[in-house]
Amino acid sequence: MVRIAPSILSADFAKLGEAVRLAEKAGADLIHVDIMDGHFVPNLTLGPQLVAAIRRETHLPIDVHLMVENPRAFIPLFHAAGADWISLHVEATAHLHKDLAMIRGLGRKAGVALNPATPIDTLKEALGELDFILVMSVDPGWGGQSFIPSCLEKIRKLRDWIRAEKRDILIEVDGGIKLDNVEDIIRAGMEVVVAGSAIFEAPDPARVIRAMKEIARKTP
Ligand code: DX5
Ligand code: ZN
Repeated sequence: MVRIAPSILSADFAKLGEAVRLAEKAGADLIHVDIMDGHFVPNLTLGPQLVAAIRRETHLPIDVHLMVENPRAFIPLFHAAGADWISLHVEATAHLHKDLAMIRGLGRKAGVALNPATPIDTLKEALGELDFILVMSVDPGWGGQSFIPSCLEKIRKLRDWIRAEKRDILIEVDGGIKLDNVEDIIRAGMEVVVAGSAIFEAPDPARVIRAMKEIARKTP
């Protein structure tokens, strides 16, 4: 089953509760929350208090995407705030194994995010520690950027690799996903669809979530 994870980065921050409730009602499977620290990426977003506030508004799992330096310092805070899935960037840590073990030790799903220019084999020694891999299809920092076409081949390679290794690791893709390219990306191997501007900047966000779910349902 392909999951839809609306990214609230493109929602109206003054009405986050409403956005999250709308997404849940429309059939979203996860709520994707982008944490940016102004160091690892040049933008700042939100912290554990906001995740805790979102936690009170939805029953859906919260997928926290840490775009921060020293992610290890923040894992316990986001866990306490109610995050269910936690991913950190391979480019941001020198101790990937330890960080992933910390997330799993807290009983949460552990993921690693890869920037578009980071090769998948950086994860070779960590495959056994991973529940999901977050393939960035834009350089992180902002919503509303265009999908980088070469990422399609990267997703295919990753899918084939995970299959060959017989691993139970989900492929999540984040950046530039719209109604007109989601089918091709699912065909390449995406199992968790992150979409921000395509959903929350649309006149009818619930319609886009439903349409993405329908495309996912029909795509083998
Ligand atoms: C970008 C974030 C994304 C962002 C995607 O750095 O990680 O989750 O919200 O936004 P869209 O779907 O607009 O590319
Ligand atoms: Zn993200």
